[in-house]
Amino acid sequence: MTTYAAVYAAWKADPEAFWMDAAQRIHWHQPPSRALFDRGNDLYEWYADGLTNTCYNAVDRHVADGRGDQVAIIHDSPITGTIRKITYADLLTRVATLAGALQAQGITKGDRVIIYMPMVPEAVEAMLACARIGAIHSVVFGGFAAHELAVRIDDATPRAIIAASCGLEPGRVVHYKPLLDSAIEQATHKPDFTVILQREQEPCTLIAGRDLDWHAFQAGVTPADCVWVKGNHPAYILYTSGTTGQPKGVVRPTGGHMVALHWSMKNIYNVDPGDVFWAASDVGWVVGHSYICYGPLIHGNTTVVFEGKPIGTPDAGTFWRVISEHNVRSFFTAPTAFRAIKREDPKGVYRAKYDLSCLRALYLAGERADSDTIVWAQNILGVPVYDHWWQTETGWTIAGNPAGIEALPVKLGSPTVAMPGYDVQVLDEAGHPVGPNTLGAIAVKLPLPPGTLPTLWNATDRFKKSYLSHFPGYYETGDAGMIDEDGYLYIMARTDDVINVAGHRLSTGAMEEVLASHPDVAECAVIGAGDELKGQVPVGFLCLTKGVNRPHDVIVKECVTLMRDQIGPVADFKRAVVVDRLPKTRSGKILRATMVKIADSQPFKMPATIDDPAILDEIKAALQGIGFAKG
Ligand code: COA
Ligand code: AMP
Repeated sequence: MTTYAAVYAAWKADPEAFWMDAAQRIHWHQPPSRALFDRGNDLYEWYADGLTNTCYNAVDRHVADGRGDQVAIIHDSPITGTIRKITYADLLTRVATLAGALQAQGITKGDRVIIYMPMVPEAVEAMLACARIGAIHSVVFGGFAAHELAVRIDDATPRAIIAASCGLEPGRVVHYKPLLDSAIEQATHKPDFTVILQREQEPCTLIAGRDLDWHAFQAGVTPADCVWVKGNHPAYILYTSGTTGQPKGVVRPTGGHMVALHWSMKNIYNVDPGDVFWAASDVGWVVGHSYICYGPLIHGNTTVVFEGKPIGTPDAGTFWRVISEHNVRSFFTAPTAFRAIKREDPKGVYRAKYDLSCLRALYLAGERADSDTIVWAQNILGVPVYDHWWQTETGWTIAGNPAGIEALPVKLGSPTVAMPGYDVQVLDEAGHPVGPNTLGAIAVKLPLPPGTLPTLWNATDRFKKSYLSHFPGYYETGDAGMIDEDGYLYIMARTDDVINVAGHRLSTGAMEEVLASHPDVAECAVIGAGDELKGQVPVGFLCLTKGVNRPHDVIVKECVTLMRDQIGPVADFKRAVVVDRLPKTRSGKILRATMVKIADSQPFKMPATIDDPAILDEIKAALQGIGFAKG
């Protein structure tokens, strides 16, 4: 039997051979001459001179191999009460036609296309259609507001935007079209055209000469063939939060992406082609890219596109119904979803209604998985629960439990061990590796493996500055933690201003920029305070401009609305307080980490450089007023 240790050692001994072997699972129109291309200055690419196509590997190849009748996509929408199944053969026809229609409008290799859609199969089809013709897609999550969409339009400069008329949240229709129109108006760059999928729940008015109807623009077009692209051609750009309001455009290269995802489907998620795999996330996040769309399809699995929530659509048994009804083998979601179900149905009354014998394992990622949630999930499901750690930047697991090779013993609080390709080290501030069980910055020795980001879109200097400059020779993950004597990794906290709200990555810096734009706000700070359900929630502190004497609750309300309009409902910014001053060091740095400790009722050391310790009592009192710092 192969062991994890043997596989990891084989990679370490000869990474080139390891990744050339893995590349053989992918169809290449022209195979790459080698795996790694060292571009100098710590920049690397994988499979750069091979020729391939992502859509061919995700769709055409399976039809050619006789999987045409297998269901590729199950769309299960408890919100609309519908279930739709699309076979690989159907998917090929649909995607080739959509790609042909885009081509007929002049979209060619290298053009960017933004996709702003809810959880409908057409979102996945739009991604695949772009890949088919070598266009570079950038999916924007539906919970972002018009301003965030506008920022992405200006950065990616798309020739087209594909959107739906509306999205559906429980009890609320998300009006996509007005958001889209407003974003295009706000953006400096204008797309040549948009394509709108009209949903019957809320059709919209199309702007003549700019907006094309999804169905009408495909009528009578010639289906597109796959366009072969180089291994280093960007498959997509996905924006993620950094420390400022300007999101980072993570570039995903075609060849390495497919090789890594294909490897992960068996070795990590332990599914075989034909099995049903379900990631309950959203196409707007990296989990949706890798494990709703590309990973399962490239590997010949059936993927589930789920339009619903863990609770309330209609009840806390929805996940169990979907698993049971669609014969899901491996299931992937964020811990927050399980916390929501546990809160609603702690005894698992809904769970008992369904036969879940098809399920082999649960995978959790996106945020720290607390031990209570893992143990509850283990008990209620009776299958192994695997935490695994990764990021938008990597696109696939950095540390996980390689269940398809060998299921390693689970240690609560640890996402287990580094995957092949990742030489993970914990460094002290000077960049020296520390010993076992010692906290430090988590970094990965360069080069990163296939599938990870080679750079940021149009921003190589920012890429180097953000990830490569702090610890020369390493990629800085932005997470802090430790490795124990068995090589198990523990992720403890972020080292930057990124917070994680219900598995969604958000920037407190970006939120501060929004608050600072309020005319009455002179100074502000945003922290991520601990929350039982969502892991963290943002809390704002507002210092008002001298002379402003409007009621504080009105100003707080305006700030909450401003955040919803500027960043979007997904920021979940609902709590803010007005304070006289912020705690700072003598050099003027706001002591956000200390404020977090106060909010979470954690012990903290009085910062030696604090300007005036009495401010901390004021902060505590303000936090108590909104339900924090209770301990
Ligand atoms: N389009 C528009 N709005 C959206 C949206 C989308 N795709 N997704 C979320 N929102 C809105 C919600 O409607 C909500 O708005 P509200 O303030 O008007 O109620 C707000 O954004 C916050 O949403 P959410 O984080 O989903 O919180 P919730 O309280 O509605 O639900 C959970 C809580 C735990 C059920 C929910 O967060 C959840 O299912 N999390 C799973 C996380 C996940 O899949 N993460 C992906 C990474 S793996
Ligand atoms: P994202 O890029 O949105 O996937 O967010 C990545 C960040 O989420 C990581 O850098 C971590 O801070 C956090 N994260 C993701 N998975 C885990 C995990 N399993 N345990 C702890 N933190 C996690």
